[in-house]
Amino acid sequence: PKDEESIPNATVECHHEESSGQETKLNKYAEIVSTEFNSIVIEHHLKWGPLCHTLPGPINESTPSTRLGRYDFAHCDAMVDWALSKGMKVKGHVLCWHVTTPEYVEKLSGDQVREELKRHIFTTMGHFRGRIKMWDVVNESLAPDGSLAENIFYRKMGPSYIEECFRWAHEADPTAFLIYNDNKVEGMNGPNKEKADGFYNLLKGLVNKSVPIHGAGMQAHFNAGGTNDRQRVPTPLQVKNQIKRIGELGLKVNISEMDVRISKLDASAEVKTLAQNQIYHDIIAAALTEQAFDGIWLWGFTDRHTWVKSFYYDDSPLIFDENYERKPSYFAVRDALSTL
Ligand code: G3I
Repeated sequence: PKDEESIPNATVECHHEESSGQETKLNKYAEIVSTEFNSIVIEHHLKWGPLCHTLPGPINESTPSTRLGRYDFAHCDAMVDWALSKGMKVKGHVLCWHVTTPEYVEKLSGDQVREELKRHIFTTMGHFRGRIKMWDVVNESLAPDGSLAENIFYRKMGPSYIEECFRWAHEADPTAFLIYNDNKVEGMNGPNKEKADGFYNLLKGLVNKSVPIHGAGMQAHFNAGGTNDRQRVPTPLQVKNQIKRIGELGLKVNISEMDVRISKLDASAEVKTLAQNQIYHDIIAAALTEQAFDGIWLWGFTDRHTWVKSFYYDDSPLIFDENYERKPSYFAVRDALSTL
């Protein structure tokens, strides 16, 4: 924390509608990020697809190296340099995620995908070397039952794609801290037990093979109104135990994308607020009791800009309201962090 009132780590995203006219709000956004937090994640634009899509060109199957020319780092450079100039760190997110892979990859053979993915990792990590020192290398490779999901990389390259990415990432920047990131894996013996076990087993397998991996990210997109086993929020003890067993593998563990939805909770506004506060507070406080735990990133900070509204429904899952005022959840997080 920069001072006793600040909270470590949040995500930041450049919001185009604000830059097009509402300078005051944009300034407020930037001011809060740089005064309340000490690390940022770029939510979307550092992914493979967004990095490449601004310079489209014809696909030339015989010379995949020409695809290198399509990278446009300007937007991310601006955000990264701004964060560094404010004394913040940047976590890179993410090198390999099937959801945001450029469309042309679908048309390539297994060997070409391998070549392109390796090139992407070297190009991107090389570009930010010295500025971004920690990376989410692979994101969301697991199916709900804890097995490897049959995504494009699995289909084209086979199950070894995960360790291959980590080895390439380590080669590209041997000093970088390398993380595997996933969702619904936050609690041991709780909701989504099979996936949480799959997460642990995947990490254990990588460590046993001496794959260069240093950390595990647990997203923590929580829904206080979850009613079935897939949706329920794990208990603080389940989260603590998950961190503990992963820590025993020699890895660090972070909470990587925390937010807490409340709109589906069947309760009064007051109870919704209390539930949100309690989840933020108790999960973070429990995580902090584990030595392996090394950071919290929220997925946004203001309810004005949250992926939840575009992907799910209206909600207020974060710790500042739409007018950039601190919410009770802000103080719940701060209280949990006060044990630091
Ligand atoms: O950049 C364009 C912008 O130019 C345009 O004006 C606007 C209008 O549609 O779209 C903008 O792009 C959107 C981008 O978010 C930035 O807001 C994309 O369409 C949209 O697909 C993208 O969604 C992001 C999504 O990942 C895909 O990258 C979300 O912001 C981001 O929160 C979400 O994050 C993921 C994590 O990476 C992994 N874990 C789950 C999490 C939530 O889905």
